Amino acid sequence: MSAHDTESSSSVDALAQQIAALLRKPSTTHGLARTLRAAAKEINLHRHHSASQKAWPSGHIDQMPRKVQIGGGSHRIDGFFNIDAVPPADLLWDVREGIPLHDGTVRELFSEHFLEHIDYPRSAKYYAREAYRVLAPRGQLITGVPDASFVLDPYPIGTSESTEMIRRWYGNRDCLADINTHLDLINYVFRDQDDDPKYNPHYWAYDYEKLVQLFTEAGFKRVERWDFDPEIASPKRQWGSVYVIATK
Ligand SMILES: C[S@@+](CC[C@H](N)C(=O)[O-])C[C@H]1O[C@@H](n2cnc3c(N)ncnc32)[C@H](O)[C@@H]1O
Repeated sequence: MSAHDTESSSSVDALAQQIAALLRKPSTTHGLARTLRAAAKEINLHRHHSASQKAWPSGHIDQMPRKVQIGGGSHRIDGFFNIDAVPPADLLWDVREGIPLHDGTVRELFSEHFLEHIDYPRSAKYYAREAYRVLAPRGQLITGVPDASFVLDPYPIGTSESTEMIRRWYGNRDCLADINTHLDLINYVFRDQDDDPKYNPHYWAYDYEKLVQLFTEAGFKRVERWDFDPEIASPKRQWGSVYVIATK
C-alpha cells in the first residue's frame, strides 16, 4: 500500500468515526442525519471497493466468467458470477467505477432492479458502455427495472391495481401507512425510500423506450423485450417490471 493510499484510507476512517459520533447525538437534525447516513453508506461501499481494487490494481480480475450477474444482492443464479457493491457476492465492486472484466469475454450479463440505483446519466451510461465492452460478439445483456409506465399510465385516476402495488411494494415496510394515493406509487418509481436507511434510493426511472435508447446509444445492435424466465430472474420482480435483452 502506498503512503498516499494509507493516508486516504485513514481520512475515510476518521470521517466514518465522526459521522457515527454525530449520528449518536440527539442534537443532530433530521436533515443532517439523512445526509450523514447516505455518506456512511457510501463509505461502506468505498471500503469494499478499495479492498477489491487493491487485490486487482489493473482494474480487471483474472477470472473470465461467461455468465455474470450485477447487483444481485441475495439472489443467486446457478452458474452466474455475482458482482455487487456489498456482500454477499463473488466480487465486491462498485460498478459505477466500471465492470472489472476483460473486453469481449462475457456471454450473458444479467441484472434486475439494479440500474435504477445508480445515478443517471454519468453512471448509467457508463454502465451501458461497460456492459457492451465486456460482452463477447453476439453476447447478451438482460436488464430488468421497475416499469415507470406501469405506474404512470393509470395516473391520475389510479386503478384497482394501485392497491395491489401498495401491498406488493410496501406491504413489509414501516412506511406502509404513509403510502396512500397513486401519486405515492409514482414517487416510488422515481425515488423509492429516500428516507429509510434500510433501502437504497432510486435515482432514475425507466420504461421500455428509455432502455432501448440507453442500450442502443451504447452500441447494442438489437434491444427487445425479454420473456421473463424464472430460472434466471427473481419471480418476486416480475410484476410491475420491464425487462429487455440487448444483443451486441
Ligand atoms: C434493490 S437491490 C436488488 C437485488 C436483486 N437484484 C433483486 O432483484 O432482489 C439492488 C442491488 O444493487 C446493488 N448495487 C447498488 N449500487 C451498486 C453499485 N454501484 N455497484 C454494484 N452493485 C450495486 C445493491 O448492493 C443491491 O444488491
